[in-house]
Amino acid sequence: MMKLDPAISGIPVSPQILQLQRNPKMPKIRVGVVGVGSIGDVHLAGYAAHPSLATIQAICDVNRARLDAMGEKYGVAPQHRYTKFEHMLEREELDCLSVCTPNCFHYPYAAAALDRGIATLIEKPITIRLEDAQHLAKIVARSGAKAMVAFSHRFIGMNIAAKKVLDSGGIGKPFMIRVRYAHRGPYPGWAQGDWFYRRKLAGGGALLDMGIHAIDICHYLIGPITSVSAEVKTLRKDIEVDDNAVLIVDFGPARALGYIECGWTSPPGFSGIEIYGDEGTLILDLVNGPKWIRGVTRPDGTTRTELRRLPVPKGPSHWPFQMDCWVKYVAGKRVPVALPQIQDGVRSLAVALAAMESSKTGKRIRIPKVK
Ligand SMILES: NC(=O)c1ccc[n+]([C@@H]2O[C@H](COP(=O)([O-])OP(=O)(O)OC[C@H]3O[C@@H](n4cnc5c(N)ncnc54)[C@H](O)[C@@H]3O)[C@@H](O)[C@H]2O)c1
Repeated sequence: MMKLDPAISGIPVSPQILQLQRNPKMPKIRVGVVGVGSIGDVHLAGYAAHPSLATIQAICDVNRARLDAMGEKYGVAPQHRYTKFEHMLEREELDCLSVCTPNCFHYPYAAAALDRGIATLIEKPITIRLEDAQHLAKIVARSGAKAMVAFSHRFIGMNIAAKKVLDSGGIGKPFMIRVRYAHRGPYPGWAQGDWFYRRKLAGGGALLDMGIHAIDICHYLIGPITSVSAEVKTLRKDIEVDDNAVLIVDFGPARALGYIECGWTSPPGFSGIEIYGDEGTLILDLVNGPKWIRGVTRPDGTTRTELRRLPVPKGPSHWPFQMDCWVKYVAGKRVPVALPQIQDGVRSLAVALAAMESSKTGKRIRIPKVK
């Protein structure tokens, strides 16, 4: 019978990891990272922050200069630096892998690793095709490998605090959510090349980059989206993919609606989340911080407004916290938050792809249930 992981009930765990958990003198997790660009650097830093639990065994990148620079930075010997992923997988004994490449490579690399039972942290979007994402979920169910999708916004302190307030009825039942995640887009010096703007490599533009975070945070805070209608457009940039999108989403049985705005052409302005409930409001402003407003209705029907302090947990910022949780999870230690699962990646990709279809057809698209 499949054993259940103590950290996240319902998720099967591989026999190797169970053995590690039983052994107090646990060997370090041997980590590989494929794609050592901007976010690869963040993942590497996260592993390097846990020298007693993890060791960076090998890295891979098609860009030799970047590979060597990251190898030097994190002390990975030249013989453990690879320009071909297949070679790294064949020659190294890895317990854990971070997939931090352009989007189109997430599927083949994650599938190969998960198939071997390697705990795999996959950057968002999980894949660019829904069938591939669903296939990853099947591999995880079969292999028992640990897996997580890097939905880093779930690790932002005020979002975690907001979830607690929502779950405890702190604004009553939410009926409306607005998420606006927008900036100027991948700028020179961030990404290694122009792959974000190429359809074949990225699968989509601002929607798959920023919008996917927004969709996931809606799922996290309110529940599964059941249908979407959208406009997904290239308004300003001379690129192959979208640079702005607006989605209207329905949460079905939760009796809530939402709208999501994402973009790559935005000057500084509001970026964050607003949630309106029957008894209050949460404003999770990424620049100016959070507000929790409670509207208390008096017996005479008038409303008294109370400004409450949102108890935001103190601690590291979202990326280090995400990595901290992932490393501890792989090491069999308890983590303080629920981690985004493969199914969360599938669910969010389904909504993003449906939004693209809606924009093309002008129709509202139903989202199938993800088990
Ligand atoms: N979770 C987040 O907050 C967050 C933030 C930024 C990026 N991301 C995601 O991380 C991924 C990488 O984005 P980035 O900003 O680091 O881009 P990047 O361009 O900085 O890094 C990508 C790296 O992958 C390498 N690469 C390209 N093709 C490869 C291949 N076939 N095999 C191995 N390496 C290859 C590139 O040379 C580059 O070094 C994307 O999926 C992106 O959506 C997530």
